[in-house]
Amino acid sequence: MALHSANVDNKLIFAPAGKEAHGQAEQFTKGVLTRSDLDPNSPIRQFHKWFASAQRSGRVTHPETCCLSTASLPSGRVSSRMVYLKELDTQGFVIYSNFGTSKKSQDLATNSWASLTFWWEELERQVRVEGRASRLSHEESQTYFDTRVRGSRIGAWSSRQSQVLKPSGDGTDREDDDGRKMLDKWVEETETRFAGEDIIPVPDFWGGLRIIPESVEFWQGRQSRLHDRFVYDKKTSTKDGVQDWTLERLSP
Ligand SMILES: Cc1cc2nc3c(=O)[nH]c(=O)nc-3n(C[C@H](O)[C@H](O)[C@H](O)COP(=O)(O)O)c2cc1C
Repeated sequence: MALHSANVDNKLIFAPAGKEAHGQAEQFTKGVLTRSDLDPNSPIRQFHKWFASAQRSGRVTHPETCCLSTASLPSGRVSSRMVYLKELDTQGFVIYSNFGTSKKSQDLATNSWASLTFWWEELERQVRVEGRASRLSHEESQTYFDTRVRGSRIGAWSSRQSQVLKPSGDGTDREDDDGRKMLDKWVEETETRFAGEDIIPVPDFWGGLRIIPESVEFWQGRQSRLHDRFVYDKKTSTKDGVQDWTLERLSP
């Protein structure tokens, strides 16, 4: 029973408290983050360190899972969705997707700013990345595409991501087709197109997107919501091309 339920009958959810018997939100108690824990020069190196420790812990099932947010201009309307981080390099964070029909591609066509948010609950850690997004080259995308199982390569060719799938027939036959058959047909067509071929070219409308960070925040949950937060912000490039970052603690 939630602590305040008697007074909030009009709300379907109010101050949810998980399985805590006393009806209050759980506390974050698993770690502490100080400036000396952080790489002084590189949020990318720091992210790599945290990612590796999430993997090593064996407790974070898929640390590569993150939320990608984009925003369309001029409306400013934001959209977010889960994606998988597939690569990290000295330039930034790479995800793979459809850039032909998806909403993210429409947003990015008007506004190259994007953000990624990671939440590793088992370690009570969050990482937020903000930066400009740019497509990887066809060749780089092909390299990753080749690692995917055949079904996923066929799927990438077949799906017009986020387009509406229309039921077959004139709509009077309710049977069980809610539009899935249209997708199945596209998959069949792709299977026919690439029948017997082991190497499948990556579609032009599909590939990698690199978010080149301008700001990266590392967050460690603490008791009483008094969390530890540190943000790296990109300074203007130095003349030798080496990237400099400021590093500051933020109030929770
Ligand atoms: C855990 C998880 C991981 C996902 N990973 C990806 C991914 O790496 N790339 C992708 O295009 N969609 C991925 N999706 C699907 C997206 O969330 C989303 O449905 C799709 O990209 C279409 O989004 P858009 O039209 O808003 O761009 C994933 C979904 C989940 C739940």
